[in-house]
Parts: sequence; C-alpha cells; structure tokens
Amino acid sequence: MSQFAQALLNWYAKAGRQDLPWQHPRSPYYVWLSEVMLQQTQVATVIPYFERFVRRFPDLPSLAQASTDDVLALWTGLGYYSRARNLHKAAQQIMAQHQGQMPSSQAELEALPGIGRSTAAAIRSQAFNQPAAILDGNVKRVLIRHQALNISSNDAKAQPQLWQLAESLLPSAQPGALDFANYTQAIMDLGATLCKRSKPNCPACPVASSCQALATGQQHSLPLPKASRTKPERERVFLLLSSPEGIWLGPDYGFGVWQDLWQFPSFASQSEALDWLAQQPLIVDSQPESWPRFRHTFSHYHLWLQPVQISVRLNGIMQASGRFTTAQDWPKLGLPKPVLSLLNQWQQQAHS
Ligand code: ADE
Repeated sequence: MSQFAQALLNWYAKAGRQDLPWQHPRSPYYVWLSEVMLQQTQVATVIPYFERFVRRFPDLPSLAQASTDDVLALWTGLGYYSRARNLHKAAQQIMAQHQGQMPSSQAELEALPGIGRSTAAAIRSQAFNQPAAILDGNVKRVLIRHQALNISSNDAKAQPQLWQLAESLLPSAQPGALDFANYTQAIMDLGATLCKRSKPNCPACPVASSCQALATGQQHSLPLPKASRTKPERERVFLLLSSPEGIWLGPDYGFGVWQDLWQFPSFASQSEALDWLAQQPLIVDSQPESWPRFRHTFSHYHLWLQPVQISVRLNGIMQASGRFTTAQDWPKLGLPKPVLSLLNQWQQQAHS
C-alpha cells in the first residue's frame, strides 16, 4: 500500500472523525444524504440539519414519498436548494429503478440527479468500501500541497492530473478492514482539520515527511489563488404585504435557485412592484416603507435585496397560490435564508 495511504489510515484511527452522525450507521442512505448536504457546506453547519432530516425521513422510501414542500422546509437556511430537489427526485428514481436500494456502481450513481463523479465515489467508498477516489476542495488542496503543484484548485486543465493522483494514492484493502471507507474520511478530515487553507498545522500532519510543499516552504502559498472573477450584481424588490392575517408568501415567486421556495412577491423595481400591487384585490392601509437594502451572495452573483413593507387588507380573492402566513407556518415551508430573516424582523416589529 502507498506510504501515503498507510500514514493516513494510521492517523485516522487515532485522530480522525469517527463520531459524525452519518457514520452511525454508515448506511448508503446516510452517506448519500450527508455527502449532498456537505457539498459547499461545513460539517458543523450540516450536523443539526442532518439530524432533523433523518428524524423526519429515516429512510429512502420515506423521503421518496414526501412532498417537495416538506423536503424544502427541512433545507431552509442550508442554501443551494437544487440539492434538495435533486435528492428528492433521486430518491423517487431509486424506488422506481433500483427497488429502493441505493445502487453501488459509479455509472448508476452518476445517473442520479445531484450526484457527480466525486460524490458517487464518496458513496461507493464510504457506504460500500469500494476503491473509489474522491476529489473535493479539501482533497485538491492536500494533493496540490503534497506534490507541490504550481496550480490553483479550480485550474480546469489540471483536473485530469489531480484525479489520476487521487486514484494512485488509494490504499490496497486489508481483508475485513474498512480501509477504503476510512481512507476517504481520513483525507477529507486531513484537509478540513490540519491541511487548512490558512495556517496549515504541518507539525501534526501524518504525511508531512513526504510533503513537497512543506519541503520547499510553499505550504502557505499553494494552491495558487483562484483566478478571481468579480461577481455581477443584481437587484430585486421584495414586497412585504402585512395584513391582520399575517404576511403574504407564495410558492411561485421563485427565480433562479429559489425555484419552489416560498417567498415574498419579488420584482425588478419598485415601480413594477407597485403596478402589480394595484392590480390585487387589496386595500392599501399604509405608504410603502423601505427597509434597509442588503446583499445576498449566490455562487455566481450578488443579489441586492430591497424590502418594501406595506400594510394591506384583503378585498376579494387573490389569484395566486400564496397565503397570509404567521410564525406558526414558517417552519413548515421551504424558505430562502434572507426571507426567513426578514420574516423574523417583521415578527419582532409587529410585537414590539
Ligand atoms: N465533506 C464531504 N463529505 C464529508 C465527510 N464525510 N466528512 C467531513 N467532511 C465532508
């Protein structure tokens, strides 16, 4: 077995994370769910979401049978909601095509929505103890430093080389041992706890003696910084319609990644918002009140949000699938994080 893999396995046995909730049991469903939640999200953030999720949907069939709203509600605040929609679709696909059993081959896993090459490999290795190499952000940093590659982690041309490297370092399994599962967890843990982006803890590292970045004093400068692209900025006006029955939310005002989530009616400009409002069966009881504008950052752009609050009363039937909601309703709805935080502000204001 490569010295690298052996050193990592020895280190994992004494210093790796072994109490993560998705390791008990390390079942295909738990591993899959955790890997999806952990895409773009840190372990500490994921743990309470994971625990709530499996309490509500303890197994794959229960997830497949759930409504989209129920699944999204458990994802509120975690971000990247397409992950939840894909998870839900994939569960239904596994029921229909694989008799409810998580498949274990790379091709079958990658055929499921939301599962790419690295996530499929993470499931194969951790849930089925197969020799499959993963390559997420943490692993890329570890490999680039260990080999002192003069590249950034997202260097498109270098990806085949990084995959090859990741595969070449896999352990050879000892019979009966969970070496592939443990190795995958070990290399992620190494990246997350020691080989961190800033202030790597080289004295504690099990592969420091063969690390080329450390040998040449480049552990702080590698990987090279990403070629930075400034994100474009967009704007959106959120209309906070408050009535005696609560605040108006609907499931069909989604745009971009917030499709299917419940939110305020939203518009490109305040005049568009007021034009829409004039066509609703509502009596307007107050002047529009602009709340402070704030910025929400998505992976590809910044969104400036301008909340505008107006007090209204119903004067007919709204031709929309939304409703006036109160704080009791919110935990049951999938809500974008900034919407939830505005609802909480509104609630505080209404009761102060
Ligand atoms: N990131 C992705 N998968 C992970 C896991 N199993 N443990 C810690 N961090 C992760």
